[in-house]
Amino acid sequence: MPIQTTAKELPYLDWTEKELPQSKRTKHVHGLHPYLGKFIPQLPEIFLKMYFEEGSTILDPFVGSGTTLVAANSLKMHAIGIDISAFNCLLTDVKTKKYDLLQLKHELNDAIAKTEGLFTDQLSFFGHCSVPLKTDNEYMNTWYSDRAVKELLGYKFVIMQGNYKYKDVMKIILSRAARSARQAPHYELDWPKEPVKEPYYCYKHKKICYPTDEALKFLRRYTFDTFRRLKEYSKIRTDYKVMVKHGDSRTININRPIDGIFTSPPYCGLIDYHQQHEYAYNLLGLQDLSHKEIGAKEQGQSKKAIEDYKQGIIEVFSNCNRFLNQDGKLIIIVNDKFDIYQDIINKSNFEVVQIVNRQVNRRTGRRSTDFTEDIIICRKA
Ligand SMILES: C[S@@+](CC[C@H](N)C(=O)[O-])C[C@H]1O[C@@H](n2cnc3c(N)ncnc32)[C@H](O)[C@@H]1O
Repeated sequence: MPIQTTAKELPYLDWTEKELPQSKRTKHVHGLHPYLGKFIPQLPEIFLKMYFEEGSTILDPFVGSGTTLVAANSLKMHAIGIDISAFNCLLTDVKTKKYDLLQLKHELNDAIAKTEGLFTDQLSFFGHCSVPLKTDNEYMNTWYSDRAVKELLGYKFVIMQGNYKYKDVMKIILSRAARSARQAPHYELDWPKEPVKEPYYCYKHKKICYPTDEALKFLRRYTFDTFRRLKEYSKIRTDYKVMVKHGDSRTININRPIDGIFTSPPYCGLIDYHQQHEYAYNLLGLQDLSHKEIGAKEQGQSKKAIEDYKQGIIEVFSNCNRFLNQDGKLIIIVNDKFDIYQDIINKSNFEVVQIVNRQVNRRTGRRSTDFTEDIIICRKA
């Protein structure tokens, strides 16, 4: 049975593109790296402030790109994030870390300068060291030009060999450049099917486009952009604790009391969260736990897939419930297409307090159709 919405006192949430443009949805660290399937930062900013006090501990068991943790920290709350994808944990960690900005700037500039040196100072490069600029990785050799492979491997070599404190930031720059340097058609950057090796008609730009040949220009551009974004966030970042754990939220031991859970679960059969950052897994050698992803696209949307999905989310919420304080809240952002969340909530020993429905005009990526999502506020049953 659908639950009644009692959202009278809630703020306006149906922003149009004009009211909430892309620049605000991807402000500071929220635009550090593309990520398909995140919610807009304005949602945790509004709801965390509304339901929790400063000093609270907030958990996101599906932390994704870290939107909840970034918001919680800036609101003076402790934050814990868990994700099954090692790349998502790395990204969240880089977004929320505290940096010595002078040292960060120095290291990022040093790494890009040394990489450029590999390709301009031919003598020192070929004469003195053997930089591994070739790979037998099939993904790399399929999706990149020879030049881009060399430039990406060159930067990787520099960061791995260097004595840098902020290597993880460089890994995110490398991953973002690797995404842009793929020979993917511009109209298919999220899920490219095949590489393009020749000029092609681009449906996005409505003209003939050319496959990318290089990676260094992206490494340079993102070095600058990453520093700018981390610096901007540092102005509102607080010293409240942020913890990111890589693991399965069905079973992980959170090991401390929490005051609130704010999360958007994976959708059923829509996105493969590891696969969307395949280039990063191939370049960085991250641990692949894709077989433990709940609701992966690969599993489809059959009756059995929906049942498995339901069971998975129930296990996550039940596990989190064990650590939630008696008067704690669970806030879920979801498009309940299969009408299963009431049952999920009951079976994880929560009850609904309120549901707010909002029109989603745009998330952080372009969508062909508008759709709505629910913000479901629950307490312990
Ligand atoms: C909808 S996304 C969360 C996006 C996030 N709210 C943001 O703004 O970036 C769902 C996340 O759940 C993660 N996930 C899927 N199965 C999981 C599991 N068993 N344990 C922990 N995380 C899981 C996926 O890797 C994905 O990052």
